[in-house]
Amino acid sequence: MVDIKEIVCREKSFISEAEYYSNKYQIPVNSISSENCYIDLSLENFLVFKQKRISNLFHKDPFLRRVKNYQRENMLKKAISYQAGKPKSILDATAGFGRDGFICALLGQEVTMVEENKGMCILIESALKRLPNRSYFNDAKNRINVINADSSKIKLNTEDYDTIYLDPMFSTHSKSMSNKELTFLKTYIDQEQDLVNAFLKKRYKRLVVKREKSFKSESTKKENIIYKGKSINFHVFI
Ligand SMILES: C[S@@+](CC[C@H](N)C(=O)[O-])C[C@H]1O[C@@H](n2cnc3c(N)ncnc32)[C@H](O)[C@@H]1O
Repeated sequence: MVDIKEIVCREKSFISEAEYYSNKYQIPVNSISSENCYIDLSLENFLVFKQKRISNLFHKDPFLRRVKNYQRENMLKKAISYQAGKPKSILDATAGFGRDGFICALLGQEVTMVEENKGMCILIESALKRLPNRSYFNDAKNRINVINADSSKIKLNTEDYDTIYLDPMFSTHSKSMSNKELTFLKTYIDQEQDLVNAFLKKRYKRLVVKREKSFKSESTKKENIIYKGKSINFHVFI
């Protein structure tokens, strides 16, 4: 799997943050780049791969529109079986940029984000750190836990999470991801394993899979519900 080889930090004010990621993810910090895949840590972070770069800020476009309208995420709410005032525990097992998980946290859910790519994990953590100091953002941040791991290897008991959420690579083009971001992710992330089938064999209360509309299932296990949207569907297994 391609992943970052270094954290590049040119500004003194970001050194302590760079060192935190360096310790957590066991990646060296340098002041100039010597690799072709790295995190460039600054006010607006970049994940750089083969001279292409992508950033991730939860309070800026293209994601800001979703953040402003998080209460209108009706399909997602249905998919995760959202109930106002009754927070659920969600395992976002393909965290990516952390955007779907962040919306769930804004909706009051407790979210464990699991992402196997260190570069993507840092993009999530640094986006959380850069959120403006507002109580609703701080509350959402406090409901999120980011874990760097292969989620297919996590042992699950039915009671561990109310919902497991999967957004497998190459399947969706969500409204919060631009073409540039999708193209970058397709080159950077190399997802070969069939994560959905791996999770279908595990114990869960509710498994939600975000799919493109044209998706045709080859799985023997049939979903219990499909919530249909304009560009994506949510397949729900109970
Ligand atoms: C399409 S992106 C998810 C986007 C995310 N839903 C969002 O809103 O930002 C899929 C992500 O799943 C991650 N992934 C794929 N297989 C994984 C696994 N076995 N364990 C953890 N993460 C995985 C990939 O690295 C990629 O970042």
